[in-house]
Amino acid sequence: MPGVITCNTLGPVQVLLDGTAAPRELQWRKHLALLVYLARSPKRARTREHLIGLLWGDKPEENARRSLSVALELLRRFAGKSGITTDHGQVRLAPDAARLDTERFEEAAGRQDWGAAAALVAGEFLEGFAVPGAPEFEHWLTAERSLWRERAVEALARHAAALLTRGDAAGAVDAAHRAVDLDRTSESAARMLMRGLAVAGDRGAALEAHAQLTARLEEVIGAAPATETQTLADRIRSARAWRAPSAPSRSPTVPLRRAPLIGREAPLTRLLEVWAACRQGPRSGIAVIAGDVGLGKTRLLEELVTRARLDGAFAVTVRSVEADRAVPWSGLLGLARGGLGEAPGLAAAPAGALAAVAG
Ligand SMILES: Nc1ncnc2c1ncn2[C@@H]1O[C@H](COP(=O)(O)OP(=O)(O)OP(=O)(O)O)[C@@H](O)[C@H]1O
Ligand SMILES: [Mg+2]
Repeated sequence: MPGVITCNTLGPVQVLLDGTAAPRELQWRKHLALLVYLARSPKRARTREHLIGLLWGDKPEENARRSLSVALELLRRFAGKSGITTDHGQVRLAPDAARLDTERFEEAAGRQDWGAAAALVAGEFLEGFAVPGAPEFEHWLTAERSLWRERAVEALARHAAALLTRGDAAGAVDAAHRAVDLDRTSESAARMLMRGLAVAGDRGAALEAHAQLTARLEEVIGAAPATETQTLADRIRSARAWRAPSAPSRSPTVPLRRAPLIGREAPLTRLLEVWAACRQGPRSGIAVIAGDVGLGKTRLLEELVTRARLDGAFAVTVRSVEADRAVPWSGLLGLARGGLGEAPGLAAAPAGALAAVAG
């Protein structure tokens, strides 16, 4: 009975036959190389000559031909007669005979389901796999590894960005770490990691990620990170762990790493949409966070402001208290004390308006 062969290639290779570990001979190096190579070939087909040159180029022609026939015979034993067909010197792998995780990755990426795509990534393409004495195959493998590294890093970084928008900083850091592990010179992966760590309240680790990227880029290409990355590092460096001004009765001690945000996906996403619209405009926007006492309004605001600051926002807050009611301009004065005076562009404000506040 022919079965369905599944190859998981986005990491250390795994071969399954109908869902369970495949027999040993199917896992032999050249058999596996042939199977994965065919599955990744255009229309899943190649000429015999091409396959011989790829995997048995070091053998006399007669031996090489026989080796290919033996390998195809073996694959047929598991994939069925219709699974591997040979016609006019063309070897073809039927679409349903073998499934690759790269195909599932493509499908997930096509529908922008970055979580599903990221979940398939377990490391390098065919990690640790090699076919000694087959340089053509090794060239192909190097190119495939580079392609899948790039695609995997993109999926992980996009997945991390989505998690961060939903309030899951720990999940974002985890995905970004995996992206950085795959490509230590990827600036988009490093920036994602820096953002995630900064939002999680771990500025030190965020700056350490930047330092590691800088050292790595210097070592590999002799260049400094791009301006976008430097700017992000500067923002993280200059921002004190941000907290909304708290009521005087609260403890002044500020924990360095905040506890994870729980269950605020919808309102946080909405707030970030408002912020994104303001930036794009650019235009003004108002968002009101309302809720019962102690329900997490301030925390939600902190989440928004921390992210906005990483985007380059200048944020000032004021807390209204009963006693300030009688004081004219108390809200504005509070904002000024909170740092409004340092806002870029303030000098362009109408002098009369500034004087009115100052007076
Ligand atoms: N979604 C959340 N996940 C985890 N912790 C939260 C969440 N929301 C709030 N907290 C924590 O609960 C506590 C109270 O939250 P917060 O101060 O934000 O409430 P508040 O609505 O602003 O309260 P008040 O009405 O007194 O201003 C804080 O320690 C905060 O970090
Ligand atoms: Mg509050």
